Amino acid sequence: MSRSRTALLAALALVAGASGTAVAALPGDVGTAAVPCTVNYQVQNQWSTGFTAAVTVTNHSAAKSNWTVKWSYAGTQKVTSGWNAKLSQSGTAVTAANESYNAALATGSSVSFGFQGSYSGTNAIPATFTLDGVTCNVDDGDPTDPTDPTDPTDPTDPTDPSTRVNNPYEGAKVYVNPEWSQKAAAEPGGSRIANQPTGVWLDRTAAIAGVNGGMGLRDHLDEALEQKGSGELAIQLVIYNLPGRDCAALASNGELGPTEIDKYKTQYIDPIAAILADPKYAGLRIVTTVEIDSLPNLVTNTTPRATATPNCDVMKANGNYQKGVGYALNKLGDVGNVYNYIDAGHHGWLGWDDNFGASADLFKVAATTEGATVNDVHGFIVNTANYSALKEQNFTINDTVNGTSVRQSKWVDWNRYTDEQSYAQAMRDKLVSIGFDTNLGMLIDTSRNGWGGTQRPTGPGATTSVDTYVDGGRYDRRIHLGNWCNQSGAGLGERPRANPATGIDAYVWMKPPGESDGASEEIANDEGKGFDRMCDPTYTGNPRNNNNLSGALPNAPLSGHWFSAQFQQLMQNAYPPLS
Ligand code: BGC
Repeated sequence: MSRSRTALLAALALVAGASGTAVAALPGDVGTAAVPCTVNYQVQNQWSTGFTAAVTVTNHSAAKSNWTVKWSYAGTQKVTSGWNAKLSQSGTAVTAANESYNAALATGSSVSFGFQGSYSGTNAIPATFTLDGVTCNVDDGDPTDPTDPTDPTDPTDPTDPSTRVNNPYEGAKVYVNPEWSQKAAAEPGGSRIANQPTGVWLDRTAAIAGVNGGMGLRDHLDEALEQKGSGELAIQLVIYNLPGRDCAALASNGELGPTEIDKYKTQYIDPIAAILADPKYAGLRIVTTVEIDSLPNLVTNTTPRATATPNCDVMKANGNYQKGVGYALNKLGDVGNVYNYIDAGHHGWLGWDDNFGASADLFKVAATTEGATVNDVHGFIVNTANYSALKEQNFTINDTVNGTSVRQSKWVDWNRYTDEQSYAQAMRDKLVSIGFDTNLGMLIDTSRNGWGGTQRPTGPGATTSVDTYVDGGRYDRRIHLGNWCNQSGAGLGERPRANPATGIDAYVWMKPPGESDGASEEIANDEGKGFDRMCDPTYTGNPRNNNNLSGALPNAPLSGHWFSAQFQQLMQNAYPPLS
């Protein structure tokens, strides 16, 4: 992904030369030549009689409210089914027209669709494409020969999603947030982990410029360039400011009311996208985790479920979660070195049959809303800011005790999964099966799911009953799987690292250890944050944790604020332990 401004300019000049048109004024972010459109056509899979292909069209002329792309095959190819466009074929001529949800195509923006086809003989890439009757450039990738459709993808084209590496964490350092690092280092024993990478949370509009004189987005990106040096570096940003945020709880309610989707777009996402598109940052791998704890709430915490909340019903009715997520994916995904990962809850939330598939489907809806396509999604993140154990090794979901399934234990309660890694891998398979990229990568937040220390079981529980078996063996020591606020007994989990398991891009510390999940009593503030009793250790619960005690630590500050006692506990109970 090393891409220099010089290489980009050279590519532009060559494109212009070949097409005989002048180079248009260079825009500030990414370069576009004076051609009306660019088409990238890629055969993704091919077998003896069939293939799948992905087509990305970039519009360089006036904004469109609907679009039609056409090409002709020289061979016997026949489109048999498609997605994200209405595809039809007459003889060798193929027409792809927009779906209602991706009809708008702004200047400089791209839309992607895909299809499956049959063929015999050779499966050559079409030489010419038109967008609404006008011939496009073929983005074949080779800067030295922009008209040859058989050339590989252009590594210098920052708008081409296929220039992304498969796993942005592989072979890369990950950004250490100096602000978090300083707080960690100031704690007794904290220097043992102060150099770990953690997420940078853009949790309000003011965070873009920097809150109270703190670092803003550009400061972080500039520092990331310093840390990068001549190698590769991934920086992890959390996009977290949806209208009506945190509808099932109060601790992380935000600044935007349920209807303020336009503010979200123009005052939050657009400015972030503009900064990320600065060519100065083109050499960074920018990981964005998009809107924690949002979409699944529309599945699990809405009427007619017993767990419904009025605020989640409002957000379901107005559609602003899907619109916000779709808009963010689309705008951020337009930046060639951004890697979008959508939040996919955790097994203790979505691991039940009636939540799992419905949530995956909703992710697809959001990822194909407001101009986004599945190509804007690099992967998903699970367990963000949660405590679910990575791998429960003392029991599996297939175990039985005296003929009774582990699924019938109080703890598992019919869930399909016992831990985050098995959930992440299964969710990945599900997402791929409904049309997300076959190379989808998962991230698992292991910042606080270690569950080490003296309470960690050393072997399976007694086989007296499924409950003694599961409760005696489980690493996750929570009172109930639905508990989420500043959990007593938790420890740091696996240290961040790339490629830890099949389908998993990385273990990450997206939630910075030591930052509170919510205040344990009412605290006045100007951040929009409420008091959620799930953060109060004396609270006896609600339907979402089956009316159990909250398990929260006492004396916690507002969400996001430094909580020294929690940080100390996390180090104490780290697993693997800290040396
Ligand atoms: C808070 C954010 C904070 C984040 C990371 C969330 O619970 O609402 O303000 O930035 O946690 O600590």
